Amino acid sequence: MTEKLAALGFSKGLIVETIVSTYDSNGRPNAAPMGVTMENAQQITIKPYITTLTYKNLQQQKCAVINITSNPELYYCTAFKEVNPAGILSQELFEKAETVNAPKLRTADAHIEVSVAKIDADKSERATVHCKVRLIKSPRKLPTVYCRATAATIEAIIHATRVKALCNDENEQEHVKELLRMIENCGDIVNRVAPNSRYSEVMADLNKRIKSWREKVKVYVKTSARLHMGLIDLNGNIGRIFGGLGVGIKYPNVILEAQQAEALCVTGEKIEQVKALAQRFFDFYRIKAKAKIHVKQTIPEHVGLGSGTQLALAVATALAKLFNVKASTAELALAMGRAKRSGIGTTVFEKGGFVVDGGKTVKNNAAVTECFPPPIFHMPFPEKWTFVVAIPNTKKGLSKDAEIAAFNQLPPMSAEKVGEICRLIMLKLLPALVEQDIKSFGEALTQIQIIVGTHFAPAQGGTYSSETTTEGIRLLQKLGVHGVGQSSWGPTFYGLCQNEKEAEVMQEKIRAFLNNGVGGQVFTTKANNKGVTIRVWC
Ligand SMILES: Cc1cc2nc3c(=O)[nH]c(=O)nc-3n(C[C@H](O)[C@H](O)[C@H](O)COP(=O)(O)O)c2cc1C
Repeated sequence: MTEKLAALGFSKGLIVETIVSTYDSNGRPNAAPMGVTMENAQQITIKPYITTLTYKNLQQQKCAVINITSNPELYYCTAFKEVNPAGILSQELFEKAETVNAPKLRTADAHIEVSVAKIDADKSERATVHCKVRLIKSPRKLPTVYCRATAATIEAIIHATRVKALCNDENEQEHVKELLRMIENCGDIVNRVAPNSRYSEVMADLNKRIKSWREKVKVYVKTSARLHMGLIDLNGNIGRIFGGLGVGIKYPNVILEAQQAEALCVTGEKIEQVKALAQRFFDFYRIKAKAKIHVKQTIPEHVGLGSGTQLALAVATALAKLFNVKASTAELALAMGRAKRSGIGTTVFEKGGFVVDGGKTVKNNAAVTECFPPPIFHMPFPEKWTFVVAIPNTKKGLSKDAEIAAFNQLPPMSAEKVGEICRLIMLKLLPALVEQDIKSFGEALTQIQIIVGTHFAPAQGGTYSSETTTEGIRLLQKLGVHGVGQSSWGPTFYGLCQNEKEAEVMQEKIRAFLNNGVGGQVFTTKANNKGVTIRVWC
């Protein structure tokens, strides 16, 4: 037997490519390309992925035929059953083997009939099937010339089977990219040595199929709002400006799904805004705008919950996944024109939790826009602490040009006030957070809010942006919440409670307060300590 196997090109330990044919439990013939190895004169091992039908059939039937061929079309139609008429292998391809209950491929150059001696299947994704050789049939055949296109085409088919298996796995996208590069190289060889041939036809069909798998990939992104708890340095005379603190919350959310398409098409909420965001992404990364985006939920805009950054990052992250753009969240934020002053929204998008950012570098008396404000402190927010959040139906907070104008018109904050904020953060708020001391955390937060709000009073008409916000905050304090604040430019305001039960009581009181006045939304939410949820699937 060894001589016969050696004559067929086998040698101990060498992996050779073959097509393994088996019957399924209904007696239908199946065949799939598999690498096999000769262990000794009597034994060959096959290493099928445990997800393959071949593996199942080997387990059930305990036998197979190892078909020897270098015909790329046979490899192609057995690796991808969907390329066959009606998506199944024709029975005509097979005839019954002589010594085992398995089919063999009629057009193969040689057949090795085997029975399964032992299967090793530990926890890995591939099993090792030890087979005993029963019969070797190798009809005499004229030698054939070696054409590089044969090997290149079969190589491309192997890689494509992995692309198909992995293209919907978010963690395997680098691997998929590498496989696609290798397939492209194989295509180059085929085009060079065998243009307009059966090999180039297989390659063209393969590439079409790969494109269609990738087009089917869908990306789901869910992110959530943040509460901005204050800016730190509105003076900027020591080389950095802004800096801020904030926390990701679980609700409200941006939820969207995206997939590749023939053109840019947006459905659901905020269609025009999302189209513009997607176009910005495509222009920035010089990619043709070909995607379908369905926006299921958005965060109310211009109320202080950071909706713009979350929506922009949700769109950019989904498209980056779809089009294999390797960029960090901070890079995506800058590409999308976010993080102009604060890095809080971007950091909580990525990892949730409580964040302090270190502001922007100042050059020539202005913040440098192209640098990202680095997070200088980040930790999960206590799981039990709960916010009661109110969005009164009053005028919206400042945004875009009005926000820029407000920043430009305000005088610099005094160094003493900045110092006071820094001290409150360093020696009251952060230690209290680490020790989960809600009372001290809340006191520091409330004090910081008053200092920052007083600075912004000329731009927003008071320490807080509206009368309702001011009264609502006063009511929350009277009711005994541990800390209060207006998120960003408001009008959203919030109170910090020890737990959900306490927050629910506050929620009812604030709802009654709003219903007696301007109306609005009130809800309770905990911190989001995880950041964005991304799912990729086919
Ligand atoms: C040349 C070549 C070698 C391959 N080797 C293996 C292998 O050793 N093990 C395996 O599980 N899949 C291998 N594959 C991939 C399978 O053939 C492919 O996943 C096939 O669709 C499985 O079909 P089945 O589910 O009918 O068994 C190979 C593919 C090619 C083109």
